[in-house]
Amino acid sequence: MFVENSIEREILERRWFYRFALPGGRQTDLYIPPELELIHDTRRRMMFGVLDPLLSQTWPEVTCLDVACHEGYFTHHLAARGCKRVLGVDARADHVYSANLIRKAYGQTNVEYRQLNIFDINPNDFESFDVVLMFGLLYHLENPIGALRTVKALTRKVCLVETQIAPGLEGDIDWGSYQWSRQMHGSLAVIDEPDIDENPEAGLAGIALVPSVTALFWIMKRLGFTKCEAVAPPEDAHEQLACRKRMMIAGYVDG
Ligand SMILES: C[S@@+](CC[C@H](N)C(=O)[O-])C[C@H]1O[C@@H](n2cnc3c(N)ncnc32)[C@H](O)[C@@H]1O
Repeated sequence: MFVENSIEREILERRWFYRFALPGGRQTDLYIPPELELIHDTRRRMMFGVLDPLLSQTWPEVTCLDVACHEGYFTHHLAARGCKRVLGVDARADHVYSANLIRKAYGQTNVEYRQLNIFDINPNDFESFDVVLMFGLLYHLENPIGALRTVKALTRKVCLVETQIAPGLEGDIDWGSYQWSRQMHGSLAVIDEPDIDENPEAGLAGIALVPSVTALFWIMKRLGFTKCEAVAPPEDAHEQLACRKRMMIAGYVDG
């Protein structure tokens, strides 16, 4: 039997980016193609594959930040896992509104959402978080290194960065003269995102830089993550993660 309240009725009136199985028994319909749904499920399993062994019995004390939380899918699952507190932030007010509907539908009291552009976050205004997620954001940004610097400053234990990966360029580059050179530590591909007003998954700037895998590891280490590891996708992963065209990197902070 379905038990809907007014919040669930509002949720069910439209289509969503994520599947939510609502407490009343019904599920959200999706506006993405059916084959894309697996990308969310794959990433959720990869996330818990890292976090469950790391945090094991301590979930009730764990604080989390989900940067670019969209409708709050990963935020919701962290809260449901029983973390102490999870803050989801996204630049788009519509997403924050949607995420709050989901929070209310589940009656989750350990979740908070705020509309925030990552580039307006001053890490000094926040306590650090045990876990920081930055999924699906880096490759929409014109300053991905600045964004990584911010999430590093906010991380107490582990930051999971999930992103599209660009083909890499390595070797040496002339530096002012053929006699001098510098080593390239991977590369950043330039991407045009012309649909920023119509596409709710886009960045805000219209130009994005996508890192190669070498660049992403090198930058994360350079910013102070003491250990960086690629998270292995499950056997039935979405093709993008299975082929490492998208990757999830766990960046750890000592102490
Ligand atoms: C591809 S979606 C990814 C959503 C979610 N993290 C996931 O991986 O499923 C990109 C999200 O980033 C948000 N976003 C784009 N630019 C942002 C910025 N500068 N600061 C914060 N959020 C941003 C968008 O509103 C959107 O929700």
